[in-house]
Amino acid sequence: MADAERKVAFVTGASSGIGRAAAEAFIARGYATALVDRDEAAGLRLEAELRGSGDCIFIPCDVTDDESVRRAVATTVERYGRLDAAFNAAGIDGEHGKATADGSMENWSRVIAIDLTGVWSCMRYQIPQMLKSGGGSIVNCASVAGLVGAPFFSAYVAAKHGVVGLTKTAALEYARQGIRVNAVCPGMIDTPMSRAGMTPELAEALIAESAIGRLGEPEEVARAVVWLCDEAPGFLTGQAIAVDGAWTAR
Ligand SMILES: NC(=O)c1ccc[n+]([C@@H]2O[C@H](COP(=O)([O-])OP(=O)(O)OC[C@H]3O[C@@H](n4cnc5c(N)ncnc54)[C@H](O)[C@@H]3O)[C@@H](O)[C@H]2O)c1
Repeated sequence: MADAERKVAFVTGASSGIGRAAAEAFIARGYATALVDRDEAAGLRLEAELRGSGDCIFIPCDVTDDESVRRAVATTVERYGRLDAAFNAAGIDGEHGKATADGSMENWSRVIAIDLTGVWSCMRYQIPQMLKSGGGSIVNCASVAGLVGAPFFSAYVAAKHGVVGLTKTAALEYARQGIRVNAVCPGMIDTPMSRAGMTPELAEALIAESAIGRLGEPEEVARAVVWLCDEAPGFLTGQAIAVDGAWTAR
Protein backbone atom coordinates (compact mmCIF):
# COMPACT_ATOMS: atom_id res chain seq x y z
CA MET A 1 0.00 0.00 0.00
CA ALA A 2 1.35 3.46 -0.88
CA ASP A 3 2.32 5.48 2.18
CA ALA A 4 -0.21 8.21 1.36
CA GLU A 5 -3.10 5.68 1.47
CA ARG A 6 -2.00 3.87 4.60
CA LYS A 7 -4.03 4.69 7.67
CA VAL A 8 -2.33 5.61 10.93
CA ALA A 9 -3.40 4.69 14.46
CA PHE A 10 -2.26 5.98 17.86
CA VAL A 11 -2.85 3.71 20.86
CA THR A 12 -2.12 4.65 24.48
CA GLY A 13 -1.68 1.97 27.10
CA ALA A 14 -0.30 -0.13 24.24
CA SER A 15 2.26 -2.02 26.35
CA SER A 16 -0.32 -4.22 28.07
CA GLY A 17 -3.82 -5.65 28.16
CA ILE A 18 -6.58 -4.03 26.12
CA GLY A 19 -4.31 -1.37 24.56
CA ARG A 20 -1.88 -4.03 23.43
CA ALA A 21 -4.64 -6.14 21.89
CA ALA A 22 -5.97 -3.07 20.06
CA ALA A 23 -2.50 -2.18 18.77
CA GLU A 24 -2.14 -5.70 17.42
CA ALA A 25 -5.58 -5.49 15.80
CA PHE A 26 -4.80 -2.14 14.13
CA ILE A 27 -1.54 -3.55 12.77
CA ALA A 28 -3.33 -6.67 11.50
CA ARG A 29 -5.73 -4.34 9.69
CA GLY A 30 -2.83 -2.60 7.93
CA TYR A 31 -2.59 0.54 10.05
CA ALA A 32 0.83 2.04 10.75
CA THR A 33 0.57 2.17 14.52
CA ALA A 34 2.12 4.29 17.27
CA LEU A 35 2.44 2.20 20.45
CA VAL A 36 2.28 4.75 23.25
CA ASP A 37 2.89 3.91 26.90
CA ARG A 38 4.86 4.97 29.95
CA ASP A 39 6.23 1.41 30.34
CA GLU A 40 9.24 1.70 28.09
CA ALA A 41 10.69 -1.79 28.58
CA ALA A 42 7.40 -3.52 27.73
CA GLY A 43 6.74 -1.08 24.88
CA LEU A 44 10.11 -1.70 23.23
CA ARG A 45 9.63 -5.46 23.59
CA LEU A 46 6.22 -5.16 21.96
CA GLU A 47 7.58 -3.02 19.12
CA ALA A 48 10.23 -5.67 18.41
CA GLU A 49 7.59 -8.41 18.54
CA LEU A 50 5.08 -6.69 16.26
CA ARG A 51 7.49 -5.26 13.71
CA GLY A 52 7.28 -8.50 11.72
CA SER A 53 3.50 -8.10 11.31
CA GLY A 54 3.44 -4.46 10.19
CA ASP A 55 4.74 -0.95 10.66
CA CYS A 56 4.80 0.26 14.26
CA ILE A 57 6.81 2.53 16.50
CA PHE A 58 6.97 2.61 20.29
CA ILE A 59 6.77 6.12 21.73
CA PRO A 60 7.36 6.51 25.48
CA CYS A 61 4.78 8.86 26.98
CA ASP A 62 3.17 9.55 30.33
CA VAL A 63 -0.38 10.72 29.61
CA THR A 64 -0.36 12.86 32.77
CA ASP A 65 2.40 14.98 31.21
CA ASP A 66 0.74 17.18 28.58
CA GLU A 67 4.04 18.00 26.88
CA SER A 68 4.86 14.30 26.63
CA VAL A 69 1.47 13.71 24.97
CA ARG A 70 2.05 16.61 22.56
CA ARG A 71 5.41 15.11 21.60
CA ALA A 72 3.97 11.62 21.14
CA VAL A 73 1.30 12.85 18.71
CA ALA A 74 3.85 15.04 16.89
CA THR A 75 6.29 12.11 16.60
CA THR A 76 3.54 9.92 15.14
CA VAL A 77 2.68 12.49 12.49
CA GLU A 78 6.37 13.18 11.70
CA ARG A 79 6.91 9.47 11.18
CA TYR A 80 3.71 8.51 9.36
CA GLY A 81 2.41 11.80 7.93
CA ARG A 82 -1.14 11.76 9.35
CA LEU A 83 -3.45 10.47 12.05
CA ASP A 84 -6.67 8.57 11.31
CA ALA A 85 -7.51 6.62 14.44
CA ALA A 86 -6.81 6.89 18.14
CA PHE A 87 -7.57 4.59 21.03
CA ASN A 88 -6.98 6.23 24.39
CA ALA A 89 -6.65 3.25 26.72
CA ALA A 90 -3.90 4.13 29.21
CA GLY A 91 -5.41 3.78 32.64
CA ILE A 92 -5.20 2.51 36.19
CA ASP A 93 -7.91 1.37 38.57
CA GLY A 94 -6.33 2.93 41.68
CA GLU A 95 -6.67 1.81 45.27
CA HIS A 96 -9.10 -0.99 46.06
CA GLY A 97 -11.69 -1.49 48.72
CA LYS A 98 -12.06 2.07 50.04
CA ALA A 99 -15.52 3.57 50.45
CA THR A 100 -16.00 7.14 49.22
CA ALA A 101 -15.28 8.75 52.60
CA ASP A 102 -12.17 6.65 53.18
CA GLY A 103 -10.25 7.12 49.92
CA SER A 104 -7.02 9.13 49.89
CA MET A 105 -6.56 12.45 48.09
CA GLU A 106 -3.44 10.98 46.50
CA ASN A 107 -5.43 8.14 44.92
CA TRP A 108 -8.17 10.50 43.77
CA SER A 109 -5.70 12.86 42.09
CA ARG A 110 -3.70 10.07 40.45
CA VAL A 111 -6.72 8.25 39.02
CA ILE A 112 -8.31 11.45 37.71
CA ALA A 113 -4.96 12.59 36.23
CA ILE A 114 -4.37 9.37 34.30
CA ASP A 115 -7.87 8.12 33.49
CA LEU A 116 -9.64 11.41 32.78
CA THR A 117 -7.22 14.30 32.26
CA GLY A 118 -4.94 11.97 30.28
CA VAL A 119 -7.75 11.24 27.82
CA TRP A 120 -8.50 14.95 27.40
CA SER A 121 -4.81 15.71 26.89
CA CYS A 122 -4.60 13.02 24.17
CA MET A 123 -7.70 14.31 22.37
CA ARG A 124 -6.50 17.89 22.42
CA TYR A 125 -3.48 16.95 20.28
CA GLN A 126 -5.13 14.19 18.23
CA ILE A 127 -8.09 16.29 17.04
CA PRO A 128 -6.06 19.05 15.30
CA GLN A 129 -4.07 16.40 13.40
CA MET A 130 -7.25 14.63 12.29
CA LEU A 131 -8.75 17.92 11.17
CA LYS A 132 -5.75 18.44 8.88
CA SER A 133 -6.61 15.31 6.91
CA GLY A 134 -10.38 15.82 6.88
CA GLY A 135 -11.39 13.66 9.83
CA GLY A 136 -10.79 10.53 11.81
CA SER A 137 -12.10 8.37 14.60
CA ILE A 138 -11.30 8.49 18.30
CA VAL A 139 -12.24 5.77 20.75
CA ASN A 140 -11.78 6.48 24.44
CA CYS A 141 -11.55 3.62 26.89
CA ALA A 142 -14.14 4.11 29.60
CA SER A 143 -15.55 1.12 31.50
CA VAL A 144 -18.83 -0.25 32.76
CA ALA A 145 -17.78 1.96 35.68
CA GLY A 146 -18.46 4.86 33.29
CA LEU A 147 -22.09 3.77 32.99
CA VAL A 148 -23.06 2.60 36.46
CA GLY A 149 -21.68 2.96 39.98
CA ALA A 150 -19.16 0.49 41.43
CA PRO A 151 -18.85 0.46 45.20
CA PHE A 152 -15.37 1.12 46.62
CA PHE A 153 -14.00 2.61 43.37
CA SER A 154 -15.25 6.19 43.56
CA ALA A 155 -12.26 7.85 41.86
CA TYR A 156 -12.27 5.31 39.04
CA VAL A 157 -16.04 5.58 38.58
CA ALA A 158 -15.87 9.39 38.56
CA ALA A 159 -13.01 9.35 36.02
CA LYS A 160 -14.75 6.88 33.72
CA HIS A 161 -18.10 8.73 33.87
CA GLY A 162 -16.01 11.81 32.99
CA VAL A 163 -14.56 10.01 29.97
CA VAL A 164 -18.07 9.24 28.74
CA GLY A 165 -19.10 12.91 29.13
CA LEU A 166 -15.95 14.11 27.41
CA THR A 167 -16.54 11.66 24.56
CA LYS A 168 -20.11 12.85 23.99
CA THR A 169 -19.06 16.50 24.10
CA ALA A 170 -16.18 16.11 21.63
CA ALA A 171 -18.49 14.09 19.33
CA LEU A 172 -20.97 16.99 19.29
CA GLU A 173 -18.23 19.54 18.65
CA TYR A 174 -16.49 17.78 15.75
CA ALA A 175 -19.27 15.77 14.04
CA ARG A 176 -19.51 18.22 11.13
CA GLN A 177 -15.76 18.15 10.65
CA GLY A 178 -15.56 14.41 10.06
CA ILE A 179 -14.31 13.28 13.44
CA ARG A 180 -16.27 10.56 15.21
CA VAL A 181 -15.70 10.16 18.92
CA ASN A 182 -16.96 7.12 20.81
CA ALA A 183 -16.15 5.29 24.01
CA VAL A 184 -15.92 1.59 24.71
CA CYS A 185 -17.03 0.46 28.13
CA PRO A 186 -15.44 -2.90 28.89
CA GLY A 187 -16.78 -5.17 31.58
CA MET A 188 -14.41 -7.50 33.41
CA ILE A 189 -11.63 -8.28 30.98
CA ASP A 190 -8.80 -10.70 31.64
CA THR A 191 -5.75 -8.37 31.76
CA PRO A 192 -2.85 -7.74 34.16
CA MET A 193 -4.91 -4.89 35.71
CA SER A 194 -7.93 -7.02 36.55
CA ARG A 195 -5.79 -9.98 37.64
CA ALA A 196 -3.88 -7.73 40.05
CA GLY A 197 -7.11 -6.47 41.56
CA MET A 198 -8.82 -9.82 42.09
CA THR A 199 -8.21 -12.81 44.31
CA PRO A 200 -9.16 -16.10 42.60
CA GLU A 201 -12.18 -16.24 44.96
CA LEU A 202 -13.36 -12.78 43.92
CA ALA A 203 -12.88 -13.63 40.24
CA GLU A 204 -14.92 -16.79 40.70
CA ALA A 205 -17.71 -14.92 42.49
CA LEU A 206 -17.88 -12.22 39.80
CA ILE A 207 -17.92 -14.79 37.02
CA ALA A 208 -20.70 -16.72 38.78
CA GLU A 209 -22.70 -13.50 39.08
CA SER A 210 -22.20 -12.55 35.41
CA ALA A 211 -24.72 -13.41 32.71
CA ILE A 212 -22.11 -14.77 30.34
CA GLY A 213 -20.21 -16.84 32.89
CA ARG A 214 -16.68 -15.78 32.00
CA LEU A 215 -14.29 -12.83 31.83
CA GLY A 216 -13.93 -11.01 28.52
CA GLU A 217 -10.76 -11.26 26.46
CA PRO A 218 -8.78 -8.11 25.56
CA GLU A 219 -9.11 -9.09 21.89
CA GLU A 220 -12.92 -8.80 22.17
CA VAL A 221 -12.62 -5.15 23.18
CA ALA A 222 -9.93 -4.61 20.53
CA ARG A 223 -12.24 -5.88 17.79
CA ALA A 224 -14.91 -3.38 18.84
CA VAL A 225 -12.35 -0.56 18.85
CA VAL A 226 -10.98 -1.31 15.39
CA TRP A 227 -14.51 -1.81 14.05
CA LEU A 228 -15.50 1.61 15.44
CA CYS A 229 -12.51 3.22 13.73
CA ASP A 230 -12.46 1.30 10.50
CA GLU A 231 -15.90 0.02 9.56
CA ALA A 232 -18.57 1.67 11.67
CA PRO A 233 -21.03 3.91 9.84
CA GLY A 234 -20.29 7.62 9.74
CA PHE A 235 -23.52 8.23 11.70
CA LEU A 236 -22.17 6.31 14.70
CA THR A 237 -20.66 8.90 16.99
CA GLY A 238 -21.05 10.14 20.55
CA GLN A 239 -21.78 6.67 21.91
CA ALA A 240 -20.54 4.75 24.94
CA ILE A 241 -20.64 1.12 23.86
CA ALA A 242 -20.51 -1.59 26.51
CA VAL A 243 -18.44 -4.66 25.69
CA ASP A 244 -19.42 -6.40 28.89
CA GLY A 245 -21.14 -9.77 28.36
CA ALA A 246 -24.44 -8.09 29.31
CA TRP A 247 -23.10 -6.92 32.72
CA THR A 248 -25.01 -3.61 32.45
CA ALA A 249 -28.07 -5.09 30.71
CA ARG A 250 -29.94 -5.80 33.94
N1 LIG B 1 -9.31 -4.97 32.58
C1 LIG B 1 -10.56 -4.63 32.79
O1 LIG B 1 -11.35 -5.43 33.33
C2 LIG B 1 -11.05 -3.26 32.39
C3 LIG B 1 -12.43 -3.02 32.48
C4 LIG B 1 -12.91 -1.78 32.10
C5 LIG B 1 -12.06 -0.80 31.63
N2 LIG B 1 -10.73 -1.06 31.57
C6 LIG B 1 -9.88 0.03 31.07
O2 LIG B 1 -9.10 -0.44 29.98
C7 LIG B 1 -7.89 0.31 29.92
C8 LIG B 1 -6.74 -0.66 29.83
O3 LIG B 1 -6.72 -1.46 31.00
P1 LIG B 1 -6.04 -2.90 31.07
O4 LIG B 1 -6.93 -3.76 31.84
O5 LIG B 1 -5.59 -3.30 29.71
O6 LIG B 1 -4.81 -2.55 32.02
P2 LIG B 1 -3.26 -2.88 31.95
O7 LIG B 1 -2.72 -2.52 33.29
O8 LIG B 1 -3.03 -4.25 31.41
O9 LIG B 1 -2.73 -1.82 30.87
C9 LIG B 1 -2.73 -0.45 31.12
C10 LIG B 1 -1.58 0.20 30.36
O10 LIG B 1 -1.66 1.61 30.60
C11 LIG B 1 -0.34 2.10 30.83
N3 LIG B 1 -0.40 3.32 31.62
C12 LIG B 1 -0.83 3.47 32.90
N4 LIG B 1 -0.66 4.73 33.28
C13 LIG B 1 -0.11 5.41 32.23
C14 LIG B 1 0.30 6.73 32.02
N5 LIG B 1 0.22 7.66 32.99
N6 LIG B 1 0.81 7.08 30.82
C15 LIG B 1 0.93 6.15 29.84
N7 LIG B 1 0.59 4.87 29.98
C16 LIG B 1 0.07 4.51 31.16
C17 LIG B 1 0.35 0.95 31.60
O11 LIG B 1 1.78 1.07 31.52
C18 LIG B 1 -0.20 -0.27 30.89
O12 LIG B 1 0.61 -0.64 29.79
C19 LIG B 1 -7.87 1.19 31.17
O13 LIG B 1 -8.28 2.50 30.80
C20 LIG B 1 -8.88 0.54 32.07
O14 LIG B 1 -9.45 1.44 32.98
C21 LIG B 1 -10.20 -2.25 31.93
